[in-house]
Amino acid sequence: MSNQIEHVLEETRFFEPPAAFASQAAIGTREEYDRLYKQSIDDPETFWGNVASELHWFKKWDRVRNAENRPFYKWFEGGKTNLSYNCVDRHLDSARKNKAAIIWEGEPGDQVILTYQELHQRVCLAANGLKKLGVKKGDRVAIYMPMIPELAIAMLACARIGAIHSIIFGGFSANAIVDRVQDADCTTIITADGGWRRGSVVDLKVAVDEAAPKCPTVKNVLVVKRTNTAVTMAEGRDHWWHEVMASVDANCPAEPLDAEDPLYILYTSGSTGKPKGILHSTGGYMVGTYVTSKYIFDLREEDTYWCTADIGWVTGHSYIVYGILANGATTVMYEGAPNQPGPDRFWQIVDKYKVNIFYTAPTAIRAFAKWGDQHPAKYDLSSLRLLGTVGEPINPEAWMWYHRNIGRERCPIVDTWWQTETGAIMITTLPGVMSAKPGSAGLPFFGVKPAIVSEEGEDVDAGHSGLLVVKEPWPSMLRTLYGDDARYKEVYWSKFEKQGWYLTGDGAFCDKNGYYMIIGRLDDVINVSGHRLGTMEIESALVSSPLVAEAAVVGFPHDLKGQGICAFVSVPTGMEVTEADKEKLREHVAHEIGAIAKPDQIRFTDSLPKTRSGKIMRRLLRDIAAGNETKQDTTTLEDFGILAKLREDAES
Ligand code: WT7
Repeated sequence: MSNQIEHVLEETRFFEPPAAFASQAAIGTREEYDRLYKQSIDDPETFWGNVASELHWFKKWDRVRNAENRPFYKWFEGGKTNLSYNCVDRHLDSARKNKAAIIWEGEPGDQVILTYQELHQRVCLAANGLKKLGVKKGDRVAIYMPMIPELAIAMLACARIGAIHSIIFGGFSANAIVDRVQDADCTTIITADGGWRRGSVVDLKVAVDEAAPKCPTVKNVLVVKRTNTAVTMAEGRDHWWHEVMASVDANCPAEPLDAEDPLYILYTSGSTGKPKGILHSTGGYMVGTYVTSKYIFDLREEDTYWCTADIGWVTGHSYIVYGILANGATTVMYEGAPNQPGPDRFWQIVDKYKVNIFYTAPTAIRAFAKWGDQHPAKYDLSSLRLLGTVGEPINPEAWMWYHRNIGRERCPIVDTWWQTETGAIMITTLPGVMSAKPGSAGLPFFGVKPAIVSEEGEDVDAGHSGLLVVKEPWPSMLRTLYGDDARYKEVYWSKFEKQGWYLTGDGAFCDKNGYYMIIGRLDDVINVSGHRLGTMEIESALVSSPLVAEAAVVGFPHDLKGQGICAFVSVPTGMEVTEADKEKLREHVAHEIGAIAKPDQIRFTDSLPKTRSGKIMRRLLRDIAAGNETKQDTTTLEDFGILAKLREDAES
């Protein structure tokens, strides 16, 4: 950790916002940022009330913020609104009605463009389709889909009628579907026959068929025809999307919902136990994603915006769909892999649709850099005016590559720090106002009051690392963990209960200009390619194999993925394991969780290093996985022999 800090403190490069960009930016001067930031902290009622007033409300709120029952904050209490209305209907009474809302490209190269008016029709049909299947306000709808327009339509249809969607990333396995669907008691699953990924069909329906019988609450499965793959349709349970939509009314007014009515659940990994169902609510999330999109991406009426995330993660929820459409912008959606058919696919898309704003992840940037400068160089990328990154710390080399090869040294880069829990971007530079510093996220967005504190809650000086906390609530914050208020309080609010601060779980430090540099997770969470995975989940998956007695999973630095997964596995006494068993275990984890959780390394060992009280010494394993000499105190280690043995194995 300390090496990394020194490294970044030595980073002296600052990139001023280009004059041409700054002169037209929505927030164009530092004074304006300072004034609005001050207002947002000193008088959040006025600041957030003003932002919310830019959107449509069936009934205005009585109270902007209610902090009476901490940490169960409420925002825009008494207000009635609808996020689907704000993303779609709100744009129909102006020239925007014929503007492209979604430009979609499938991996095979097929294309769909939906204007706001067309999107409205499709969302109304889907909402009526869901109603026809018996879905009501408050019901949970699981969505397990490829990146196709119907995914966005399904979300907006749920939001329209007040059904709570729970999107499950299409790369997760049937077991992961079961866990999530059962946890939320979903009544309906929306899926597709398949999706295209790297030239092959991902059999989504097959996974749903495996999962659904284990989920007694699931009454209906709605299936979009995407790949024309042969699928079995269970009588009475499964329905083709196009058939249902052909049989319903085209008119479906948006339901006026309470600002605090839940909007969606999205599962994310924690240090312990099963994934946590992050619950977001309607009004605050809407206002937060709207205003961050507006100012951080500096959205202009004529912009074409592309975020390359999958909607299965929060980035896609907030910054492909909700925040972007709430602004009436054009959002590009791409189904497939970045290197299909070749490593230039993204640049081809940027060139083809003249994308102006491009938002991706450091892991992708490192892959592009590795694939070579010649790929973006073939394309006209002059339409780009702003770049963004999200998901993990970006190393300055990757930042510079992005700046040179994609931004062609003309485009500001926003490095946006946030979390599934925060709903919207929290720390970033504002592109027209602040210099960017490679590797550093920047300053707090409006209404965000972060701090870096010690374990005891004392402020930490610039240049020293500590725990990143947020001292005041913000509108798009999670409201709870679905069905588990106690865990919500425990995970996020118990550490600094007295002070009422939100614990992010990240370590960070500030430079002398107040720029935040995020170091990474402090808990047992690994950030693989910008996706959060709990070591516990992977360990449980491993232990469910007969080849495994005990497992300890740790992250290690990985050139492309940011962090890789290393599993130390002890085998049952007397069992002989071979190299081939490593692959078996990797496949086993993929089957239990999904390919994303496959360990990069598996190391068999007779036993795991433990303290005398029986705790696995993870930090020590982390050092071994990273190939570092252990600086750790090993005096409490139970059996010194283990350490030497693990090292030998690592070197062999
Ligand atoms: C964790 C949240 C937010 C959408 C994608 C990930 C890390 C996120 C940055 C950034 C350094 C970052 C943090 C955070 N992270 N953005 N710009 N710089 N680290 O959402 O799965 O909820 O993960 O991702 O560690 O806590 P998530």
